[in-house]
Amino acid sequence: MSAVNLGSTGLEDRPWGEGLRSQVWFGDPGKTGFMHRSWLRSEGLPDDTFDGRPVIGIANSWSELTSCNVHLRTLAEHVKRGIWQAGGVPFEFPTSSAGEPLVRPTAMLMRNLMAMDLEETLRMNPLDGVVLLAGCDKTTPAYLMGAASVDLPTLLITGGPMLNGKYRGTDIGSGTSVWRFTEAYRAGQIGAEEVREAEGCMARSQGHCMTMGTASTMACVSEYMGMQLPGTAALGANDSRRATAAHLAGRRIVEMVAEDLRPSRILTREAFENGVRANAALGGSTNAVIHLLALARRVGVDLQLEDFDTLVRDVPVLADLMPSGRFLMEEFQDAGGTAGLAETLGDLLHRDTLTVTGQTLGENYAGADVWNREVIRPLDNPVKPVGSGIAVVRGNLAPRGAVVKQSAASPELMTHTGRALVWDSLQAYLADADDPDLDVTPDDVLIVRNVGPKGYPGMPEVGNMPLPRKILEAGVMDMVRISDARMSGTSYGTVVLHVAPEAAAGGPLALVRTGDTVTLDVPARSLSMDVSDDELQRRRQEWEAPVVAGSERGWTRLYVEHVVQADEGCDLDFLQGRSGAAVGPQAF
Ligand code: FES
Repeated sequence: MSAVNLGSTGLEDRPWGEGLRSQVWFGDPGKTGFMHRSWLRSEGLPDDTFDGRPVIGIANSWSELTSCNVHLRTLAEHVKRGIWQAGGVPFEFPTSSAGEPLVRPTAMLMRNLMAMDLEETLRMNPLDGVVLLAGCDKTTPAYLMGAASVDLPTLLITGGPMLNGKYRGTDIGSGTSVWRFTEAYRAGQIGAEEVREAEGCMARSQGHCMTMGTASTMACVSEYMGMQLPGTAALGANDSRRATAAHLAGRRIVEMVAEDLRPSRILTREAFENGVRANAALGGSTNAVIHLLALARRVGVDLQLEDFDTLVRDVPVLADLMPSGRFLMEEFQDAGGTAGLAETLGDLLHRDTLTVTGQTLGENYAGADVWNREVIRPLDNPVKPVGSGIAVVRGNLAPRGAVVKQSAASPELMTHTGRALVWDSLQAYLADADDPDLDVTPDDVLIVRNVGPKGYPGMPEVGNMPLPRKILEAGVMDMVRISDARMSGTSYGTVVLHVAPEAAAGGPLALVRTGDTVTLDVPARSLSMDVSDDELQRRRQEWEAPVVAGSERGWTRLYVEHVVQADEGCDLDFLQGRSGAAVGPQAF
């Protein structure tokens, strides 16, 4: 059958054509071009598909095992409409995915694998630009990292938050309320039936967690860093405006290819500063620290752990969202969303950074308004005052730093000295936590180690370990807890996280012992144990690196051998930086 003649495509005056990366595959009139074009024709594509139009990948982290992303197949259809409409050619493709609720030992173990999967898929295929569809916590940073290392024109669309949880007339937040319900259950305040009822009331639509957990944090922060269309990050997963945004993203990515607008032009030091400061105003997740440190190292931006402390000292928490505040993402969007918050922050954000729209952040949000000042507070009436963001503490317990989310912590524990109670594993702690004879008081400091990037492995979200039952039954709901783990962005408590170097890598956290005196002094940015250097040296002679279960082979082995510490973002050492989008040699 001869080629179908579609007549004029209307694309004659478009700036693309020669020079597009995809033409290396499709522009060859000989054998290899024949093969590239011919097999794709099996998808029912007309022959002018390959005449030099921009070819756009739609990377999809959809998976039925990643419930927060399960609607992204539908969203991809809207992106495709926009791409076709703008004269491009879409190709949706899957990658590996990683959902928080199911993946063991932790979805974080998959982040770098997802990033590598995306990076190689982009580089190996005839793509001129890419739309990223992500949502659940690790999927968004994984995609940004992988795409940044290839540096094709890239536009992110996140899946949007689910509807508010509703339980017996009250709003309940995903994650945040899980901890509250289960601790109330352990303390005997509610029964199993109530817990089961609450389970069914929490996740009642598609979308990612609707608290300001890691998913909402990374969605909003990446918008402020310029990688999402303005005003879209907080739109609900099932809000028809999200589908419209996906359609517009499809149109826009085609223009971005014509403009050669790549992440390397968007993800500047100033863009990262916007991300860090916006995270503080949102009361966002501590996981953003790790993800932004990793992303910065992909694109060669000098971002350090200390920046998350020093850059935010004049930024108050303005979004009154769980877990730091009262409301959920639906109220945030209705109050003005990311645009309203950006306008409220004014010059606390760099206004001249470039974004995926081709305009600056200031231009994107000009004229935005706030409709509910209870949810998005003004600067002179914040949820939490300046100085309540993430604090980076250091000392002989954490020479390369650890983080404390002050807005989720108890003010009276910000300066605290207590006896250390130390466990070598999470399992050992959990085995003791319900023991009525456990020797523990509210003034003690709970330390769980070997739960860092190498130690667990993957650095699970267990830093907010549940309090001992004895403590809960006494009505005490917070204690100082220290670990080399992470914590869910939906969690709260006086929790010192990301201790670096981790215990399994031989950090001094491996040397602290039950009975040592530990002092957390957040105002002084200090975390120390009252143990002499000589004694620490003696203990080090006795220390043996733990055996990491499951690291004998496969991905986990590669991960454990190459993961860098939390203060550098937990990327693999050989994935830092970028290789670009150069097309490899053809094998046939
Ligand atoms: Fe997927 Fe919270 S579990 S976003």
